[in-house]
Amino acid sequence: MFTPLPPRLASPSPPGPPVGGVGGLVPIRALTEQSRPALLRHLLALAREDRYLRFGHAASDRQIAGYVRGIDFGRDEVFGVFDRHLELVAVGHLALSADDPGEAEFGVSVLPRGRSRGIGTRLFERAATFARNRGLHTLRLQCLSRNEAMMRLAWRAGMLVRASDGETEATLQVPPRSLLSHFDAWMRDVIGELDFAIKRRLRRPPAARPES
Ligand SMILES: CC(C)(COP(=O)(O)OP(=O)(O)OC[C@H]1O[C@@H](n2cnc3c(N)ncnc32)[C@H](O)[C@@H]1OP(=O)(O)O)[C@@H](O)C(=O)NCCC(=O)NCCS
Repeated sequence: MFTPLPPRLASPSPPGPPVGGVGGLVPIRALTEQSRPALLRHLLALAREDRYLRFGHAASDRQIAGYVRGIDFGRDEVFGVFDRHLELVAVGHLALSADDPGEAEFGVSVLPRGRSRGIGTRLFERAATFARNRGLHTLRLQCLSRNEAMMRLAWRAGMLVRASDGETEATLQVPPRSLLSHFDAWMRDVIGELDFAIKRRLRRPPAARPES
């Protein structure tokens, strides 16, 4: 069933506060094995309701730890937005389907302090670009139908939305890759790495001055 958005979702919302980064860009960095502890801290910081929205059930700390342990960084694409303390404010996880190598499912979480600034949308765009450059044909996301932010995000991205029993599945047919989509991904990666390197440098305590 194709579900048009209810009018309250289809109307434009007031813009949130400006996003950090150069020219409104959100610096997104790919996560690796080394990121597991930061990823775990990020997910454990989600309140019960947010865990419900993210995982489809109010995941316990133990279940979240299991989820983080189980991520295959070699197969999936996991990426995030770091604050100046190098804590993860937001995380996107593009999990490649075990059944169909052309499909992947997107999951996302943004801590309350980072919301309504376009970060969730930027993470989705990053996932879509990654899927495109990997030659995937379909990107899916699942959420509760009452999750207005995700419904809006799916609608804005032009996804096909199917709803039943309070749950929604949205699908995006991924366009073929191009030189521009590779360049776009490369640029975003450079910005994400630069941002992280600068924040890491700023975090270091200043070197002790040599005594004169
Ligand atoms: C869903 C979530 C990722 C959105 O992140 P975000 O950074 O706030 O998203 P954006 O700022 O890019 O906003 C996306 C859209 O939702 C709208 N929006 C944001 N917060 C909203 C809210 N509380 N109510 C209604 N709409 C909201 C934005 O205005 C935007 O719509 P627009 O482009 O038409 O203006 C975040 O709220 C979250 O982590 N929630 C808990 C976990 C979850 O629900 N995960 C998704 C399941 S996989």
